[in-house]
Amino acid sequence: MKPIIQINKLSKTYLLGEHKVEALSEVSLNIHAGEFVILSGPSGSGKSTLLQLIGCLDTPTAGDVTVLDLNVNKASDRVMSNFRARSLGFVFQNFNLIPVLNVYENVEYSLLLGKRSYQKKDITDVIEQVGLGKFSHHKPNALSGGQRQRVAIARALVHKPNVLIADEPTANLDAKTSSEVLSLMTELALENNTTVVMSSHDPSLIEKSDVRQIKLVDGKLVGDEPRALSNVI
Ligand SMILES: Nc1ncnc2c1ncn2[C@@H]1O[C@H](COP(=O)(O)OP(=O)(O)OP(=O)(O)O)[C@@H](O)[C@H]1O
Ligand SMILES: [Mg+2]
Repeated sequence: MKPIIQINKLSKTYLLGEHKVEALSEVSLNIHAGEFVILSGPSGSGKSTLLQLIGCLDTPTAGDVTVLDLNVNKASDRVMSNFRARSLGFVFQNFNLIPVLNVYENVEYSLLLGKRSYQKKDITDVIEQVGLGKFSHHKPNALSGGQRQRVAIARALVHKPNVLIADEPTANLDAKTSSEVLSLMTELALENNTTVVMSSHDPSLIEKSDVRQIKLVDGKLVGDEPRALSNVI
């Protein structure tokens, strides 16, 4: 079966004045539909850069990324923006919820961006799935960090994206809540057959998970372990 994400000799160089920062250097890898992948590596190793390229939020300096059948190099901004709203879901370290909207409205907002018809039940179901049924009318500032990230996960998954991209989704959470959020993402991805690419620099979280781990150092791919032997989560 053709991989859902194909990455071929992908490089990204940022220009800081006259100084060039090689954030990603000739990275090649394939990810298949339904896979759950953790990108690991020290700060500055290129994890966010790679996620931004997979997420069609930026374009590469060299090489190719193809997500589903969209070649990110060749797509216009408008095509990438529609593609993001319909086929991708995003979860970020700082939750990125809209403070003036309650839980239900934050999740609904993602459906409004996708410009497809939907029913109230689509929203209430996913809020139930992330365990926040009783919190639908709460605003983000009345929720804990873990609960906020659950809202972000519900918002990312409500339109049933093919690929979920999560940049350090557990970085602002304590160890126990991080494990719970990772388990929830694993469970929901499996239920919906969603492909997940997430980054984390937390070794204790990565060690506990049994998913494929891709390691970056200085923008280069230095490790790709299909699965650990233990199955702790
Ligand atoms: N917009 C930018 N302009 C210039 N340099 C950038 C930009 N974004 C990232 N970089 C540089 O590219 C390199 C990779 O950054 P990136 O954010 O991808 O790393 P990371 O692995 O996500 O790090 P962290 O774990 O701290 O989030 C770093 O050297 C960073 O300083
Ligand atoms: Mg980062």
